[in-house]
Amino acid sequence: MSADRLVIAIDGPSGSGKSSAAKGVARALGLAYLDTGAMYRAVTWAMQDAGVDPSDRDAVIAATQRAELEISLDPDTAWVRVNGHDVTDAIREPGISATVSVVATLPECRADLVDRQRAIIDAAPAGIVAEGRDITTVVAPDADVRLLLTADPEIRMARRKAELGEKVDAAQLADQVLRRDADDSTLVNFTTAADGVTHLDGTYLTLEGTIQAILALVDAAR
Ligand code: DC
Repeated sequence: MSADRLVIAIDGPSGSGKSSAAKGVARALGLAYLDTGAMYRAVTWAMQDAGVDPSDRDAVIAATQRAELEISLDPDTAWVRVNGHDVTDAIREPGISATVSVVATLPECRADLVDRQRAIIDAAPAGIVAEGRDITTVVAPDADVRLLLTADPEIRMARRKAELGEKVDAAQLADQVLRRDADDSTLVNFTTAADGVTHLDGTYLTLEGTIQAILALVDAAR
C-alpha cells in the first residue's frame, strides 16, 4: 500500500448497499468517491437523448465513445453531467434502469468506460473509494482493499424500494434488481469474490455496521 494514497474497490449487485457504504467510507477517510454505475447510466441517457436504437450495437458503441462525461467525486455532493446536461436525477428514472444493461453488456462500451474510470482513480490525489461491478477484478485489481458486498435478494429489493418509493411497482422492482443483475452478470462476475477479494455479506448488517466492517479491513491492510 502506498503511504500517501489509498484505493478501495467495492463491487456488488444492485441494492447490496455498496453506494451508501462506499460514500460513508470515503467520508470517514477523507477520500474521493466514484460511482461507476452512474457513468453507465449517464451514457444510457445520452444514447436515449440521441434517439439511438438500443439494438443498433454500432450506434450504442459510438454514442458511448462520443459521450462527454463529468462526475462529482465528492461523497457529499452527487452530480453527473453528460454532453453538458445535468442528468443527476434523470439517470435514476426506471427508463434508464431498464435499458442500462444494453451498455453494460457491450464489451466495447465497457472498455471505454473502464479506461475513463482508471484515469479518474489514478488522478485522485489522496485516493478514492470506487464502487461498481468490476472494480475489484477489472478496473482496479491492484487496489489496496478489495471487497465484494452482497445481500440476500429480498433485502436488496426492499432497499431499492425504499430508495425509489412510489416510482416503481413490484414488477419494475424485480426487473431493476433480479433481471438486471442476471443480464449484467453475463460479462462480469459480481456474485462470487475473486482471489484476494474479501466477501462481506451485508444482509444482517446496518449501514453503519457495514461501514465499520470496511474500515476494519482498511486498518488490517495498512
Ligand atoms: O450500480 P447501478 O445500479 O447504478 O449500476 C447501473 C448499471 O451499470 C448496472 O445495471 C450495471 C452496470 N455497471 C456495470 O456493469 N459495471 C460497473 N462497474 C458499474 C455498473
